[in-house]
Order: sequence, then C-alpha cells, then structure tokens
Amino acid sequence: MAMADFYDDHDTVAAATADQPLLSVDGITRVYGDRIGCADVSFDLWPGEVLAIVGESGSGKTTLLNCISSRLTPTCGTVNYRMRDGASADIYKMAEAERRFLMRTDWGFVHQNPIDGLRMTVSAGANVGERLMAIGDRHYGNIRGAAIEWLERVEINADRVDDQPRAFSGGMRQRLQIARNLVTNPRLVFMDEPTGGLDVSVQARLLDLLRGLVSDLGLAVVVVTHDLAVARLLSDRMIVMKDGRVIEAGLTDRVLDDPRAPYTQLLVSSILQV
Ligand SMILES: Nc1ncnc2c1ncn2[C@@H]1O[C@H](COP(=O)(O)OP(=O)(O)OP(=O)(O)O)[C@@H](O)[C@H]1O
Ligand SMILES: [Mg+2]
Repeated sequence: MAMADFYDDHDTVAAATADQPLLSVDGITRVYGDRIGCADVSFDLWPGEVLAIVGESGSGKTTLLNCISSRLTPTCGTVNYRMRDGASADIYKMAEAERRFLMRTDWGFVHQNPIDGLRMTVSAGANVGERLMAIGDRHYGNIRGAAIEWLERVEINADRVDDQPRAFSGGMRQRLQIARNLVTNPRLVFMDEPTGGLDVSVQARLLDLLRGLVSDLGLAVVVVTHDLAVARLLSDRMIVMKDGRVIEAGLTDRVLDDPRAPYTQLLVSSILQV
C-alpha cells in the first residue's frame, strides 16, 4: 500500500464496515513454559467501542493485551483486524513490515510507564512528529504545527515543545505519550494501566482527558486496568479475567452493578469497601 493512499476513502470504507467488528479475537492462548498466561480468550471489538480488561494482578491482562496487539506471539488462537480498506487480516499472518506499519499508524499503544512509550532524549515535539513521519509527512512546518496542536490538546503548553520528556512530570509524560499515539489518527488504541503510575489527583485529570479524546475521535480502545473505577469511567464493555481465563463479560454497567460470577462479586464488593 502506498503511504500517500493511507487515508484515502477512509470515511466511505468506515461507513461500509461499521457493522463489522474492528478486531476479532478467537481462542487466544499464551503459555510460558507450563504456566498459563492467558487461555482461550475470544471477543469482538466494534469500531468506536471501549473494552476494559480487568482482573487481579497475575490474571493475564497484559499477556492478553500484548497478544492481541501483535507484541507477543500467542501459543494458539487468531486475531483478525479490519484494515482501512475493509478487508480482514490475520495480524500474525501479515508481513512483518505491514504489521509494523499498522502499529505505527492505525494503532496506538499506551504503556503504563511512559518511559516505555517515549524517546526520552529527543524533544516533545519530535516524539509527536515522529509518528507523522511514519505515514510519509516530510514537511517540517506541518509536523511541528501538528505536534504543537497535539501538545495543547493534551494540555501541555506549546512553549514546552523543545523540551525533552525527561524534563516533564509523570502526568505530563503520560499525556505526551497519548499525544504521540493519537497524532496519526489511529482507529484502535491499546492501553495497559494508563493511569497506573500516577497519584490520585493526576489520575482523575488524565482519565477525564482520555475520556474526552476517545469520544471526540471515536476511538476503539482496549484498556487494561485493575481499577474498576477506571473501567467504569472509560469503558462500554468489560471482560473479567482470573487465572488467565475470562470468567465474566458484558456491558460495564451491568457487570459492575449486577456481577454474576462469584469472583466478580468479590472483586466489586472489595472495591466498594475501600
Ligand atoms: N515473561 C514471562 N515469563 C513467565 N511467566 C510470565 C511472563 N509474563 C507473565 N507471566 C505469567 O503469566 C501470568 C499472567 O501475567 P500477566 O503479566 O499477564 O498478568 P497481569 O494481569 O497483567 O498482572 P498485573 O496486574 O500484575 O500487571 C502470571 O502468572 C505471570 O507470572
Ligand atoms: Mg499487567
């Protein structure tokens, strides 16, 4: 695919494929030796939908997220992604170059620790601009302009554009990581505990910002969190994991207000007691 054609006819195709899942996860299993990371996980994600993956530490959330975002090859199972041209592609069967291109453009990945998702020794502007260059933008003025616009959208003052992220606070770094991911107008963003490392007041503000961006941009998101309040605020639907398996799935409000699996009941009530 020519990079210049990347965004052509996007809206037409999006309309034609709105009734089909964006991502179809089928039977994903990943083992580490004889330990189970995740087992037999299946779900569909629809365009513009936010899905939360919740569960206690070690339940397999990160393993699953990495498997479905092509960062960790599953032991078995398939992940199909609906490309911008409407065709469905098995992400582990496509050419490595095509997969990498997807990851740099159509997909975003927000790490819990911004250090893992940023280049700490180049400027904030370059961190954002780099993803634009991946889709073929070579015009310095455009790139800088878009970078500044995105910094402002994530509430980072434009006069910080030339600063390196190591000069930023934790909350600012996380917002910069988000800007870097969103600048290419992705359709699908994976997030692993996006507010995990931040203190409570910073978390609340970041969640608010994320919620606004997700709805403004119509993003589909898979967000991993052990924090049910984060799931409640951000997600439409959720899956609950325990020991690598999905033990409950449904609309977020239904699962949290009327949990059916005993484990989910425990999870919800222990949060309410805090
Ligand atoms: N690289 C690895 N090698 C061996 N075992 C691993 C590896 N990564 C994860 N595991 C195991 O897989 C299981 C699931 O781990 P995973 O990191 O996916 O859980 P998690 O739900 O993301 O936990 P947390 O909330 O603590 O981040 C755990 O038993 C863990 O010990
Ligand atoms: Mg994890």
